Amino acid sequence: MVLLLVLGLVLSLATAQFNLHTAVRRDYNLARISGTWYLDSIASDNMTRIEENGDLRLFIRNIKLLNIGSLQFDFHFMLQGECVAVTMVCEKTKNNGEFSVAYEGKNKVLLLETDYSMYIIFYMQNIKNGTKTQVLALYGRSILLDKTHQREFENICNLYGLDSQNIIDMTKKDFCFL
Ligand SMILES: *[C@@H]1O[C@H](CO)[C@@H](O)[C@H](O)[C@H]1NC(C)=O
Ligand SMILES: *[C@@H]1O[C@H](CO)[C@@H](O)[C@H](O)[C@H]1NC(C)=O
Repeated sequence: MVLLLVLGLVLSLATAQFNLHTAVRRDYNLARISGTWYLDSIASDNMTRIEENGDLRLFIRNIKLLNIGSLQFDFHFMLQGECVAVTMVCEKTKNNGEFSVAYEGKNKVLLLETDYSMYIIFYMQNIKNGTKTQVLALYGRSILLDKTHQREFENICNLYGLDSQNIIDMTKKDFCFL
């Protein structure tokens, strides 16, 4: 019994380390980010835009790499209590992991970090009517991500000048979940 517990502990420590070591931060293999993701946390320097009814509170559910190298995001958001499904194509740019899309203004979308199998972190800079807004989002392959990923997300948010007050836990807020 004790041996099993120790073995379990060693395995979970190994997994935690594994997560950090397998983080990819450039030269992404975009085909590997395709598939289903669940929103875990979202952060912004303008909370109005990611709070309830915010125009940048986006629940991405599926990502698909298109032949031309662009990314198709299937997402939904709440509009006056209704779930609205939207498909958005982010055009690739000359930089690997950087995309652009017109949505509520002009957006630059950056893939910041992923391990393909468990988590992915995106950065978005929105320019709407001359106002710049930053949004960062952490998505997981499963509904619950562990604390290692959430801490990593917080660290990255800090790099962009956002602290824990700018981060919203979204794990129980997706009312359009089917
Ligand atoms: C934040 O977003 C709201 C809604 O779009 C906007 O009215 C407000 O001016 C923004 N605040 C800042 C500081 O940009
Ligand atoms: C856009 O900005 C201009 C100048 O700051 C302002 O007069 C106008 O009301 C804004 N429009 C919207 C839709 O926010």
